[in-house]
Amino acid sequence: MYYSRIIGSGSSLPERRLTNFDLEKMVDTSDAWIMERTGISSRHIVTDESSADLASEAAKEAIVNADIDPKLIDLIIVATCTPERLLPNTGCLVQNALGIRGCPAFDLNAACSGFIYALSVADQYISRGLYKHILTVGTDTLSKIVNWEDRTTCVLFGDGAGAIVLRADHTPGILGTHLYSDAANRDVLYATKTHADTSPIIKMRGRELFKVAVNTLEKLAIDTLDKHGFKHDDLDWLVPHQANLRIIKAAAKRLKLPLDRVIQTVQKHGNTSAASLPLALHDGIQSGKVKQNELVMLEVFGAGLTWGSALLRY
Ligand code: ACO
Repeated sequence: MYYSRIIGSGSSLPERRLTNFDLEKMVDTSDAWIMERTGISSRHIVTDESSADLASEAAKEAIVNADIDPKLIDLIIVATCTPERLLPNTGCLVQNALGIRGCPAFDLNAACSGFIYALSVADQYISRGLYKHILTVGTDTLSKIVNWEDRTTCVLFGDGAGAIVLRADHTPGILGTHLYSDAANRDVLYATKTHADTSPIIKMRGRELFKVAVNTLEKLAIDTLDKHGFKHDDLDWLVPHQANLRIIKAAAKRLKLPLDRVIQTVQKHGNTSAASLPLALHDGIQSGKVKQNELVMLEVFGAGLTWGSALLRY
């Protein structure tokens, strides 16, 4: 039996920063409204970079921090819903940017939940002893599919990528991952792309989604601890999906976890979709908050709806 241990993390954010004050000049909104409803004050937006470019930079940093030769990577999984190209997949583009050949590389789309899905797939390969080093990336450039005239969505999202390298180890590691989908609410948040409609645009019924998100994430956190026999005060860190500070606070309250035990990046990143969790995790690791062997829960929800969690010892 092998566990998947995080041995390196990395991130990449576009240079361009868009503040709430910039948005005030673009749509009928205000810094006060955005701060009060979401907690977001700024986000990074690409100029000409793609999701693959961001993913490659985050992956390079994660590999440097893992202190391994990139040639040791056995598998690359990239979670994204905004790939640079439909073909080939983003994983192949990342592999090329890393200058390595031969290892399998593929993409996976579960919207904002993509990184947890990718982590879960990676963990299956490692725990069965099939692969030793796996690169897992979450990357999205939702700015490319946002309607910049729709104030109800354009203020929420940002671009970025986060990556981690997992290594097979005899000590934990990932203790478990828990994945869910339910398409009953498939029209609450969606973007279509057909031959007739070449420019996909995100459509969202925010108020409905807010309620589902709060209920889902509160229950998910409690269920995840229960499944592994932990109590709320065993948890050192919650790394939640960075969509809305109000949703994050509700989940923390339900877990009876003080907010200084919750990694928060939504204020400076906005909702970066599949990049949200790895960006937040990297932030927690880089800042020295998350320490070796601490108990960490990742949890997320997104379009689908999809949702999921992971419990791990860092
Ligand atoms: N600036 C100013 N006013 C606005 C803005 C804006 N940017 N957007 C909406 N409003 C107005 C609305 O028109 C509405 O006005 P009305 O009362 O005159 O009709 C009023 O503000 C309140 O709108 P609500 O939608 O009820 O505001 P709410 O408090 O629900 O906040 C928000 C909206 C922030 C979108 C919230 O519902 C939310 O965070 N929902 C969850 C979103 C989410 O997490 N999505 C990502 C899922 S992850 C993924 O897969 C990508």
